[in-house]
Amino acid sequence: MYLCAGLVTINGVEQMKEHKIEIVVQTCKMAELNEADRELVEAAKRSTKGSYAPYSGFKVGAAVRLRNGLIVIGSNQENAAYPSGLCAERTALFAAGAQFPNEPVVALAIAAKKGRIFTKQATPPCGACRQVIAGVEDRFGKAIRILLYGSDGVVVVNGIDALLPLRFSTF
Ligand code: THU
Repeated sequence: MYLCAGLVTINGVEQMKEHKIEIVVQTCKMAELNEADRELVEAAKRSTKGSYAPYSGFKVGAAVRLRNGLIVIGSNQENAAYPSGLCAERTALFAAGAQFPNEPVVALAIAAKKGRIFTKQATPPCGACRQVIAGVEDRFGKAIRILLYGSDGVVVVNGIDALLPLRFSTF
């Protein structure tokens, strides 16, 4: 959401419009989520078990909910050549796209463990994953609800715009 906050004045001359970008983030406990969202977060937590993270020790799990209700999971997969590895979110989103190309993604949950312990704070997606989430939203013309798990609580945003304002898109 873009709110015009006024004009920037330099030497008494109005130069350009200044905008404030407002994002809305919700926080809650696991027990406060609806059943479908809680199931998705639990799937993301479980999928940390498939993580291969011998280099970072940071095990990330992701779970994608499709419009038909199915859940597709992913986890980060590392490689000795570091950039060849892939994040959990992209693993899950690309697996969903490969297996169900016509099913829109409606929600994505992310959870992460440092060693054996889930992070206290929610783990938001990296920049590259945000761009991929944005691409999936564009592809299906539908905002993706994003649930970020932390053992202290869950952060929820309704669509990637909240995490990636002024994003690149060719749509
Ligand atoms: N990682 C993810 O799986 N998702 C992200 O959004 C950020 C980072 C992974 C990549 C790497 O295996 C480990 O976390 C440490 O960066």
